[in-house]
Amino acid sequence: MTVEIDLKREIDHSYKIYIDTLARLTFRRKVAIVTNPTVSGLHLDYLLERLEAPTVEIVTLPDGERYKNWESIETILDTLFEARFNRSSLLIAFGGGVIGDMTGFAASIFQRGIDFIQIPTTLLAQVDASVGGKTGINNAYGKNLIGAFHQPRAVYADPHFLETLPKREFAAGVAEIVKMAVTFDAGFFEWLESADLSKHEVLAEAVARSVRTKAKVVAQDEKERGLRAALNYGHTFGHVIENETAYTTYLHGETVAIGMVMANTLAVELGLMTSDEAERVKRLLQRYELPVTYPVKDPERFYRTFFLDKKSGDDTITFILPRHIGGVEITNSIDKAQVMDVLERFRGA
Ligand code: NAD
Ligand code: GLY
Repeated sequence: MTVEIDLKREIDHSYKIYIDTLARLTFRRKVAIVTNPTVSGLHLDYLLERLEAPTVEIVTLPDGERYKNWESIETILDTLFEARFNRSSLLIAFGGGVIGDMTGFAASIFQRGIDFIQIPTTLLAQVDASVGGKTGINNAYGKNLIGAFHQPRAVYADPHFLETLPKREFAAGVAEIVKMAVTFDAGFFEWLESADLSKHEVLAEAVARSVRTKAKVVAQDEKERGLRAALNYGHTFGHVIENETAYTTYLHGETVAIGMVMANTLAVELGLMTSDEAERVKRLLQRYELPVTYPVKDPERFYRTFFLDKKSGDDTITFILPRHIGGVEITNSIDKAQVMDVLERFRGA
């Protein structure tokens, strides 16, 4: 005997991303804001002035990627249980990508899933991490290896928060903007080449164009069965660099910048991109003082570390390579010799 559970129903998880000054947010349910001391010190009052809800709990987690772990998730969940939150309660992620990923993950597992909204306060989180529903934490085996797809109910990207962002963190966000442009939108890339992102309205336009690109990709492939992997351009090489430097030397966006330059070197080698195009990408990254090179000490070891990437198979590595500027190719059939050739070119002391 066979019984089938028919789950072929359409569920609408659509949501809006507001790129604007934060409007008044009114909720008729219990709300918990998850944040860290840096963000709360700078901006919590601004948020509280605009927030109305019957209960507002504040969960302040320590600041930093190394706290993106189970312990922080337990802290969030304990607060929710102690304050008698229920399935209609709401979480607010108030911070950068670290806070956003953890809050989303806690929301995905608290009483089997509750709503959350994202109020991203870094450029990287506004253009990338807050959008698309990837949530999770790190563990001893690597980054973001535990998690869930859980979409926010809305994203509020207020440019006001970016005014306090350190220059290096700002540039790390620009790297993710460049990533979207190179892989999906040649017109956007050309626009970026002459854009002055220090101007508020220009920056808001760049955020909007990045988010539009990501939204289109996520709408086509929410669970990363194919196209969404293209958003990992720069990450295949970048993850190895993060791993080799124990996540202490570079910001995530900085390794993405180096990773894009390395991927472009491979793309030029394979005839997917011209060296002139690769040079243009490098110049744009350098304009924001992003690192564009990395001294590979041991190419063999670097190559082996590719296999720790979530996208790698037992004996295949997935590379995301630009097809000129504005196109992308996801491939797992690159010869080791060609990759080694690129790694040799980056060999350094
Ligand atoms: P982050 O969250 O660590 O923030 C960077 C630093 O800036 C922190 O010290 C933070 O406290 C501080 N900060 C935040 N807002 C500030 C403000 N307005 N003014 C001054 N300082 C501020 O790092 P991030 O770059 O925002 O995010 C990186 C994380 O995002 C990584 O964990 C990465 O895995 C994740 N990520 C997730 C996705 C996704 O799709 N879910 C995509 C990209 C990255
Ligand atoms: N940042 C990659 C993704 O959201 O898929």
